[in-house]
Amino acid sequence: MSTQIVDCIVDLQYGDCGKGKVAHHLCKTGGYTHVLRYNGGANAGHTIFHNGKKFITHQIPAGVFFGITSVVGNGCVLDPVQFFSELKMLEEGGVDTKGKIFIAENTHVITSAHKEEDGREGARIGTTGRGNGPAYREKYGRTGKRATEFPELKPYLVNLYDEWFEKKDVKILAEGAQGFGLDIDWGDYPFVTSSHCTTPGVLLNGLPPGAVREVWGVAKVYETYVGSKKFQPEGEVFDKIADVGEEYGATTGRRRQTNWMNMKNLERAIRMNGVTHVVFNKVDVLRTVGAWAVYDKGSKVEFKSEKEMNDFVTNRLTSIGVAEKNIFFSESKDKI
Ligand code: IMP
Ligand code: MG
Repeated sequence: MSTQIVDCIVDLQYGDCGKGKVAHHLCKTGGYTHVLRYNGGANAGHTIFHNGKKFITHQIPAGVFFGITSVVGNGCVLDPVQFFSELKMLEEGGVDTKGKIFIAENTHVITSAHKEEDGREGARIGTTGRGNGPAYREKYGRTGKRATEFPELKPYLVNLYDEWFEKKDVKILAEGAQGFGLDIDWGDYPFVTSSHCTTPGVLLNGLPPGAVREVWGVAKVYETYVGSKKFQPEGEVFDKIADVGEEYGATTGRRRQTNWMNMKNLERAIRMNGVTHVVFNKVDVLRTVGAWAVYDKGSKVEFKSEKEMNDFVTNRLTSIGVAEKNIFFSESKDKI
């Protein structure tokens, strides 16, 4: 009998919180046999600093940077054009991808028609235009196409039952895309993406609940959102945060709207996803701006210093069961 262990990375806000960095860190230290992308399509943009070089991946999981078998799971939708161009980009950047990248054979495919439709109709939500919504709609409408129908994908296909259960003991790092605030069920509908960005979304890729061990929730010390709804309040400080934080989307280059962190949303995301570890990124940004605040219980709470804010947040998280030693405040682009 083989065993299955899964550690998950879940974005607690609206995407772009630095999941790629956490994935990169865990890949170095976790002894994983697989890295699994469990939701989303080419709408994601993971920025990874590897050996001093910046890489942006959209479809391919971070494991490939460490020679770990990387799987695009059936919870995702896959754009073959983007997939092959990314393979090429990685190879040209000196990353060996041979025999390391796989696609679940029951993954649905994003076609050029999906991208055209999303480009035409996506403005209402402010989508990335990558065909995500139309591809999932066809999947659930039972008119979509699975990866098995595309000969060029054949060399990459795997059956996830065989991969997880038939070969050997597996230890999987499950890397999500987007975030809890964009989740199809728990996000601010309709300003959401079309997939499950949650810990349960990991399980949809053929994994049993009991396999889940650690759940790493990733947040920023302020919030950002890209899309059509109004998110950023009035006030110069928010533009400053966006400037200092270089808040531009990795996929579309759009400027992200910013706001203070919302404690209720954060708590909800931590509890519903069963988060065991929390990484707060971009602490250095608020330090440079010189302002610290959160929304809590319907009003804004301001802090005089970084320490005061971190203590407040840490106390709240420990009160809902996150161990203090598992809470990290990070200020570096390439480590936790
Ligand atoms: P879609 O996922 O392209 O359909 O876009 C739906 C919403 O999710 C839009 O507001 C997008 O800006 C947002 N979104 C999609 N992918 C990401 C991401 O990787 N980071 C941040 N926002 C995203
Ligand atoms: Mg991103």
